[in-house]
Amino acid sequence: MSHKYPGKLILFEGCEGSGKSTLIKALGEILREKDYNVVETKEPNGLARDILLNPDHFLTPREELAIFIDGRAEHFSETIIPALLKGDIILCDRSSPSTIAYQHYGRGLDLTDILIRDAKARQNVNFDLIILLDINPEIDLERKKPETRFELEAINFHHCVRNGYLEQAENDPDGKWMVIDASKDAGIVCLEALDAIYKLLAKRGKEIA
Ligand code: TMP
Repeated sequence: MSHKYPGKLILFEGCEGSGKSTLIKALGEILREKDYNVVETKEPNGLARDILLNPDHFLTPREELAIFIDGRAEHFSETIIPALLKGDIILCDRSSPSTIAYQHYGRGLDLTDILIRDAKARQNVNFDLIILLDINPEIDLERKKPETRFELEAINFHHCVRNGYLEQAENDPDGKWMVIDASKDAGIVCLEALDAIYKLLAKRGKEIA
């Protein structure tokens, strides 16, 4: 079970510039038109986002991890859990799988330590569906001039991150991951994501009935 709340927590993941924010915006509009209460949210946020993304800031990998984990604890307690309690559909741009992909596969930090701290930050609330927009980082980074501390990392770092995502998706005991080829037309990507979301919501209908 993902959590005990009536809402649904749908997570979007992927390398830099894989099109998550555009997809979330489009899905939010479609679902609101169908009268669902939708919350769009993202990690990292606020001041933490500026500290983490600004390329002029030097942070060790452990400091970086601590800021992501602290931000996640606040995000879950202040935004995600209250919305789940209300029965909302949450479309979340990045969370725990990013920490595993970037801080473990990318930076080489210990996986067990990350898993323990991450689960605590989420209060053991799990995602209902994880949509991975998969794209070759070489194409990805061409779409936009690299600006953030992460975008400016060497291409090998981004290959490790992508591999980290794909391994998480393959090692998916609960069948929560859906991998979409993000090099496809944006309209097709949106339809595939919507199909997975409707299937999840249909399950919820059955649980309520
Ligand atoms: P974005 O919101 O524009 O995708 O930027 C967020 C950046 O932060 C992105 O490069 C991925 C990185 N990140 C991590 O390294 N670890 C994390 O746990 C999260 C949530 C993001």
